[in-house]
Amino acid sequence: MTNSHPIQVAATLDQPAISLANIGKEFNLGRRRVVTALTGVTATIERGEFVALLGPSGCGKSTLLRIISGLEKPTSGTALVEGSSPEQLISDHRLGFAFQEHALLPWATVSENIAIPFRLARRPIDRARVSELVALVGLAGFESARPKQLSGGMRQRVAIARSLALAPDLLLLDEPFGALDEITRRRLNFELARIWAETGVTTVMVTHSVDEALLLADRIIVMATNPGRIETEVMVDLPRPRTAETLGSARFGELATELIRLLDHSEPSDES
Ligand SMILES: Nc1ncnc2c1ncn2[C@@H]1O[C@H](COP(=O)(O)OP(=O)(O)O)[C@@H](O)[C@H]1O
Ligand SMILES: [Mg+2]
Repeated sequence: MTNSHPIQVAATLDQPAISLANIGKEFNLGRRRVVTALTGVTATIERGEFVALLGPSGCGKSTLLRIISGLEKPTSGTALVEGSSPEQLISDHRLGFAFQEHALLPWATVSENIAIPFRLARRPIDRARVSELVALVGLAGFESARPKQLSGGMRQRVAIARSLALAPDLLLLDEPFGALDEITRRRLNFELARIWAETGVTTVMVTHSVDEALLLADRIIVMATNPGRIETEVMVDLPRPRTAETLGSARFGELATELIRLLDHSEPSDES
């Protein structure tokens, strides 16, 4: 049915940022061994929303993000981003992506790293935009530093600034703070919340941290494993801006308890 629709539809204001219809993804491991990484994934993400994909390791979070980004093709189902195929969004340079592995160029400075998307898009480097991004992620004064001279948290700030360089329609983050210590991670969670509020960019973030999802997201898509699928969704009705106080609030505690219960339930169990 979905195949009868043209993949490319003119952008309209009321269409969702992302629509996923019955996505399935299988990986062939040879000798007829097949892993079902995702099955029956249907979801809609609205413009300007911050959505967290939360679930245990192996539930297909990264695979789903890669499908949304066009880096991976679903085996079945349809993914539309801003009404177009994800590939279209990539070729239009309207997608920002940051992974846990920051992949900065080691020999390039902070400013040069942030400017990479301009080069890739063969556009003139907008120096004012680069400076603005340096300031946005709190790295003013470090423009000429090289990645080796920065802490892990600072490198992730550079990666986030770089992903925002071309003012993307969509920001995709795969555990961007996964390799950081808890204190730095928490600080960057607050930073990212501020950046998201300032830019209004639609954001999908993969995480396996309940606290991180609650501090950042409007809505949490809880995933389960074997096979990877959506278990349920939780609306995060915590007021913004979320602060250290939010972490200690009764509502935060209730939501965290609920999410932990859902995640527990989503783990495969020996008992029946
Ligand atoms: N390129 C691949 N080839 C084979 N199996 C893969 C590949 N990518 C992911 N998988 C499998 O798909 C499942 C989901 O993986 P992934 O999306 O990385 O999960 P998550 O990010 O939630 O930890 C896992 O069983 C993983 O081993
Ligand atoms: Mg992953």
